[in-house]
Amino acid sequence: MTRSSTKRDLLSMDDLSVEEIRRLFQRTRLLKEAQKAGRNEPTLAGQTLGMIFEKPSTRTRVSFETGMFQLGGQALFLSTQDIQLGRGEELSDSARVLSRYVDGIMVRTFAHHNVEVMAEYATVPIINGLSDDFHPCQVLADLFTYEEYRGPLPGRRVAWVGDGNNMANTWIQAAARLGFQLVLACPVNYGPDAKLLAHAQREAIASGGAVEVVRHPSDAVRGADLVCTDTWTSMGQESERQRRLRAFAGYRVDEALMREAKADALFMHCLPAHRGEEVSAGVLDGPQSVIWDEAENRLHVQKAILEWLMGRDTL
Ligand code: CP
Ligand code: NVA
Repeated sequence: MTRSSTKRDLLSMDDLSVEEIRRLFQRTRLLKEAQKAGRNEPTLAGQTLGMIFEKPSTRTRVSFETGMFQLGGQALFLSTQDIQLGRGEELSDSARVLSRYVDGIMVRTFAHHNVEVMAEYATVPIINGLSDDFHPCQVLADLFTYEEYRGPLPGRRVAWVGDGNNMANTWIQAAARLGFQLVLACPVNYGPDAKLLAHAQREAIASGGAVEVVRHPSDAVRGADLVCTDTWTSMGQESERQRRLRAFAGYRVDEALMREAKADALFMHCLPAHRGEEVSAGVLDGPQSVIWDEAENRLHVQKAILEWLMGRDTL
């Protein structure tokens, strides 16, 4: 399916204005209520989402596929092991060919550049379903989840403990855009992307947010309203696992660390989690953890994203 040159993409949080994030969340609330009440509306009837996966997935695959079904459309699971992309067909060619069949493409890949190439050559919207640099769908679901529980994030303090990875980068963009305080505690050599950090720190001046990197987990978590972590070994880094286990010793989010946060602080993890590594079982399965709501909200937020990008009405 071809589409106008004004098509939009979601490659990172930088693709959404604050106003658009707010409207996306308003729509998410309505879609969630409707789904709970058994009143899904077929706003994307007859439309198809192609989903290219170069890495494994449970949540992203199932929530996008289910979301498209609930909106009256369908999703195609395209593993790079099965499509010609995996045998070396160029990304730019794949993007142009798929654009003649489907109405939107979700991509989970390694290099972020791959998502940018897809966006450049596809004539339909591209959604980043996780790259080595960013995971916008997850962080949008996390922001929505926090606000469901505790109200507006601007003015709050969020702690990130662990790896300066794709999730950390995306939280940094979110803090700068929406205007909340983000303090990341990362070991030496495992901090977030320096250029991205500097850019976000400049943007945060205008939004009223702040982004800071510290060394010790307690310095990030003290007084936090929300504590987040993620795996120490992201997809594609499996050969570094032993080195990473050593580097991240002391960065586990456990009950003692959570006691440094505010008494009503929430805990988030995008999953999959490794109990006893980046988080203790007590915290992950404890009363402050909202991990199942985060996972569920992927579905609702992504339905709003799909409508925004593929539907007739834009945000
Ligand atoms: N959080 C997340 O993206 O999970 P999957 O890797 O299972 O999709
Ligand atoms: N940082 C993790 C997130 C998984 C959803 C990874 O990239 O593997």
